[in-house]
Amino acid sequence: MTSTTPDPRLPSAEGSDAVPVTVLGLGPMGRALASAFLDAGHPVTVWNRTPGKAGDLAERGAAVVAGSVGDAVHAGQVIVTCLIDYDAVRSTLERAACDWAGRTFVNLTSGHPAEAREMARWTSSRGIDYLDGAILTPTPAIGTPSATVLYSGAADVHAAVEVTMRALGGTAVYLGDDPGRASAYDIALLDIFGTSVSGIVHAFVLAEAEGITPRRFAAFARGVGALLPEMIDRFAEQIEAGDYPGDRSTIVSAASGIRHVIAGASGHGIDVGVLAAARSIIDRAVADGHGADGLARLTTVLRAAQ
Ligand SMILES: NC(=O)c1ccc[n+]([C@@H]2O[C@H](COP(=O)([O-])OP(=O)(O)OC[C@H]3O[C@@H](n4cnc5c(N)ncnc54)[C@H](OP(=O)(O)O)[C@@H]3O)[C@@H](O)[C@H]2O)c1
Repeated sequence: MTSTTPDPRLPSAEGSDAVPVTVLGLGPMGRALASAFLDAGHPVTVWNRTPGKAGDLAERGAAVVAGSVGDAVHAGQVIVTCLIDYDAVRSTLERAACDWAGRTFVNLTSGHPAEAREMARWTSSRGIDYLDGAILTPTPAIGTPSATVLYSGAADVHAAVEVTMRALGGTAVYLGDDPGRASAYDIALLDIFGTSVSGIVHAFVLAEAEGITPRRFAAFARGVGALLPEMIDRFAEQIEAGDYPGDRSTIVSAASGIRHVIAGASGHGIDVGVLAAARSIIDRAVADGHGADGLARLTTVLRAAQ
């Protein structure tokens, strides 16, 4: 959770800028959001399905804990939801009689683009002003300059809440009127995160099976992470140009490398399901005659499999 001391580098809502904010959902992220709104000087009301999750928000005497969703919505002008998924948001709002007149609904729950667009239709059919959003940073970043939050949906709704949402800190990017756009970025970025985490934990297990301690391994593993920013930019250029030079390394070489890893892991009885999936894409590229190309070529193989 963010500190109770406002970050002096961030704007603070005072006087007419202070807007009653309601946060529905007090998981780790919902609590961080509520804390940031409080730090920025907004009156905050919170609600959570399971009572007793307000923690120090209530102890600080600043946040009001509402007894029902309807009461929570009634207390706010900007209503922020941050629940586990869109189904939870919808079922939470469907169960309560809420008066949305004069209120704006900002949904910062993670989901996929079709869910965001469906939520926009659902809210529109009820006359609710809706903005979708995706939080790209972990809870400690919320309310600090390193936070990043994406927004998409109706421009006038975004304009109405833009100043209030600055309480979350850092970079806030409005991506236009397609409500699914923020989620589209989010899922593509989560794709990197999910597969990276899977690779990292697998590598620790493989290293450990070879008698390498996690700390000693980390000193070298960090170097792999440091290669990625340059690689991401280079791949972006190559994908846009449709040109995949194999001058640095080739797909054939990667095919050989991944076989070493699979053989080594299999020898220790470690699950190689994720590696086998990666190898099948590489093998397909080689079979299609792309073995001499660079790794960004794998994007065309994945596209062809759609
Ligand atoms: N934590 C992060 O670092 C992070 C970063 C970026 C984005 N996000 C996104 O932020 C959202 C919230 O994440 P989180 O970390 O706070 O925890 P979470 O475990 O994803 O969500 C917990 C919240 O969802 C509520 N919930 C779960 N099922 C529900 C249901 N059927 N009906 C009503 N409420 C329900 C929980 O209420 P109960 O307490 O009653 O179970 C709690 O308030 C997620 O979409 C997540 O992807 C989180």
